[in-house]
Amino acid sequence: MQPPDLQPRAAINGHTRIIVILAYPTHHVRTPSFFNAYMAETGTNAVLVPWQVAPAQLADAVRGLREVENLAGLIVTVPHKQAIAGLCDELEGIAADLHVCNVVRRTADGRLIGAMYDGIGFVEGMRNNQIDPAGKRTLLLGAGGAATAVAAALLDASVAQLTVANRTRAKAEELAALLRARRPGAAVQAAASLEGDWDLVVNGTSLGLKPDDPLPLDPALLRPGTIVAEVIMQPVETALLIAARQRGCRVHRGEHMVTSQIRLLADFLLSATPAQ
Ligand SMILES: NC(=O)c1ccc[n+]([C@@H]2O[C@H](COP(=O)([O-])OP(=O)(O)OC[C@H]3O[C@@H](n4cnc5c(N)ncnc54)[C@H](OP(=O)(O)O)[C@@H]3O)[C@@H](O)[C@H]2O)c1
Repeated sequence: MQPPDLQPRAAINGHTRIIVILAYPTHHVRTPSFFNAYMAETGTNAVLVPWQVAPAQLADAVRGLREVENLAGLIVTVPHKQAIAGLCDELEGIAADLHVCNVVRRTADGRLIGAMYDGIGFVEGMRNNQIDPAGKRTLLLGAGGAATAVAAALLDASVAQLTVANRTRAKAEELAALLRARRPGAAVQAAASLEGDWDLVVNGTSLGLKPDDPLPLDPALLRPGTIVAEVIMQPVETALLIAARQRGCRVHRGEHMVTSQIRLLADFLLSATPAQ
C-alpha cells in the first residue's frame, strides 16, 4: 500500500492563531466555512474551529481558553450570547449597552473583550446590497437576541421609525424601552398592530427555520415595493421571502447578515480595531 501523501499544504502550522466558535449544538453553524474561506483568501494564518459546549460548562471552557496564548478569540452563537457577556472583562459598543455579544477578543495578557456584530452585520449586509435603512419606516418582527441587535443597529443607521412586534408583547415593550433609553428621542415603539405603510419589514424571529413554521406576518399586509428582510439563513429563501416576492416586494436574505459580518469579525479578532 502507498503511504499517504503528507506534503504540508494546509495553512495550519505552529504560528496559526486559533479562533473558537462556541455553540450548543454545533452542527448548524455555518460561520467556519465562510470565515476560513476568508482567511485563505486574505492569506491570514488563522483558523476557526467549532467547540460544542453545553451552557453549564461554558464558564469552565472560557476559563481554560483564557490560558491559550495563541487564541485570537471566540465567536459565540446560540445559546451562549448572553452568558458570554458576563464572562468578559470588558464589553464594547452595542455589547455594553445590551449586555450580549457574539465575538470576544483575547488580549496578550489574557483579558477578554466582547463586542456584538450581529446587528452591524445585518445593516452592512443591506448596504452591500444597495439598501440604505436610513429614513425607512421599519417594522421589526421579534424581540429575541437577533432582533435586539438588529433593532439597535437599525436605529444607529437612522431608520425613520422602528416598530417592534413580538408574540410575547411584554418583550417588545421591554425592547422598545431599552432602545429609547439607549437613544433618547428615537422614534421606537412596541407594535399596536402589524398594519402600516412600511418601507422595510424585518423578520427577526426564528419562524421560517422549520418547514412547517407559520409565516411571521400575513403577506396581505405587504405592499409592493416594501423591502422584506430575513435573519434566517437556512433555508436560504424562507416562505416569507417567497410570499413577499410574489407580492411584488424586494427581498433580502438572512445569509447577508453573516457573510457581511466575516470581515468585521476578522478585523475585531485579528487586529485591535475597536467595535463601533
Ligand atoms: N443571519 C445571521 O447572521 C443570524 C445571526 C443571529 C441569529 N440568526 C437567526 O435569528 C433567529 C432568532 O435567533 P435569536 O437568537 O433571536 O432567538 P431567540 O432569542 O430565542 O428569539 C426568538 C424570537 O422568535 C420568536 N418566536 C419563536 N417562536 C415563535 C412562534 N412560534 N411564533 C411567534 N414568534 C416566535 C420569539 O418570540 P417570543 O419572545 O414570544 O418567544 C422571539 O422573538 C434564529 O433563527 C437564528 O438562526 C441569524
